[in-house]
Amino acid sequence: MVYSRILGTGSYLPKRVVTNDELAQTVDTNDEWIVTRTGIRSRHISDAEETSSYMGYHASLRALEAAQLKAEDLDMIIVATTTPDKGLPNTACLLQDRLGVTYIPAFDITAACAGFVYALSVADQYIRTGMIKTILIVGVDVLSAVTNWADRSTCVLFGDGAGAAILQASDKPGILSTVLRADGRQKDSLYIPSLLPGQRKAEELPYIHMNGREVFKFAVRALEKIVEEILADNGLSQDAIDWLIPHQANLRIITAIAEKLNLSMDKVVTSVEKYANTSAASVPIAMDEAIRDGRIKRGQTLLLEAIGGGFMWGAALLVY
Ligand code: ACO
Repeated sequence: MVYSRILGTGSYLPKRVVTNDELAQTVDTNDEWIVTRTGIRSRHISDAEETSSYMGYHASLRALEAAQLKAEDLDMIIVATTTPDKGLPNTACLLQDRLGVTYIPAFDITAACAGFVYALSVADQYIRTGMIKTILIVGVDVLSAVTNWADRSTCVLFGDGAGAAILQASDKPGILSTVLRADGRQKDSLYIPSLLPGQRKAEELPYIHMNGREVFKFAVRALEKIVEEILADNGLSQDAIDWLIPHQANLRIITAIAEKLNLSMDKVVTSVEKYANTSAASVPIAMDEAIRDGRIKRGQTLLLEAIGGGFMWGAALLVY
């Protein structure tokens, strides 16, 4: 049986750190409100150089190093992002160019905060069928560029960053299964209007629009269900999970899922406190940190889950 195994991971956070207190100097908010409602204490914000392809490149170099591979060893590149450098070409091609490789297929996936889990699932199918051997997947977003910094109900929630993973075919267990879901009826709960000036309504600002309460309620219900589904698909109980690596949007959403799984918070990787919601980058950044600091060890079972605008959501169960 062919599995997709994670050979190495990497991440990149922009240099500039913005604390809650710093935000409170420009919008009517405060550290206490943000920490109590979300768990967030700070976030990293990109400068003009730190685009999706730039951050994705630095995360990829770290993943390649961890995997002890060179860029020439890659057979495919998949980038999950909602904030590409350009309308065309896609960010995967820009990353391919930065990595100095050519010819291999390179494409983007747009699945908002669920992007990394979607990319992981797509990559897994290519590897399982034997069509492709080694794939670089990157989750990266620069949500600061589409955030209305005068809107306190959204600007406190987001940050920028990139996370990468190298998957390779192996006969040892790796990804056990993935589940992907979407519900387009929820298109108005969380969206960014068209970034094409000619296609945007004059009254719409080109920023993230969000009904926070709707997102919160839907996210908890959808994620609770999908983690139960993926465990049932694999005939496993929550005792089999060594680490839950959830989407890092809000500590209260994360806690609700951990409680549903009857999982102690000691088994949950969180980084939302430091980095806020980095969208497609949130799961791979959290995973990379926990691998690098030794919490996650080879042979352990990881449950990844994420949800984002669409809504789109997904889960992955894998042996690291
Ligand atoms: N600082 C201070 N007060 C604020 C702020 C702020 N930054 N933002 C809103 N408020 C005020 C509101 O104006 C409101 O005041 P009012 O009662 O006088 O009208 C009050 O706080 C309560 O606002 P709510 O929106 O009801 O607060 P809630 O408890 O729902 O928390 C939050 C808001 C944190 C956005 C929550 O709904 C949430 O986390 N939702 C999920 C959003 C999310 O995760 N989005 C990410 C993208 S999707 C995904 O990744 C899952």
